[in-house]
Amino acid sequence: MSNKTLAIIKPDAVGKNVIGEIVAKITSAGFKVNGLRLIKLSAEQAGMFYEIHKDRPFYGELIEYMTSGPVVPLALTKENAVADFRALIGATNPEEAEAGTIRKLYGDSIAANAIHGSDSDENAANEISFFFRSNELV
Ligand code: CMP
Repeated sequence: MSNKTLAIIKPDAVGKNVIGEIVAKITSAGFKVNGLRLIKLSAEQAGMFYEIHKDRPFYGELIEYMTSGPVVPLALTKENAVADFRALIGATNPEEAEAGTIRKLYGDSIAANAIHGSDSDENAANEISFFFRSNELV
């Protein structure tokens, strides 16, 4: 089992000015931050990152949304990182997310759901290398 995951604070949450609150929830839950950036994705970058979803009906909306404002990718480490992080952020749809989870607290809709978390160790490794060079990670 890997101990790494990749998070992205999404445009809705950056726009609400709650980067600090979300990072505090992540670090309070025991995650170490190994890399952190503030960037605006191009359509090409977002398309590459979400290639796995390219045949889904919501793909166009997803790319448009993820390029609508800056995002904050974070490379994170913790024992059981992928599963623990998904528990911390809650269900994809904020309406279905448990009380106290990041998506329940800060998400507005299934698209504008405040934060992304890798869904497997393999995707975590790929997603971390998408945003960070290994020599940039602490
Ligand atoms: P994320 O964890 O970033 O991975 C894919 C994203 O697609 C997901 O979060 C949601 O924000 C988004 N998504 C999933 N289902 C839908 C949907 N039905 N409509 C719009 N966006 C969706």
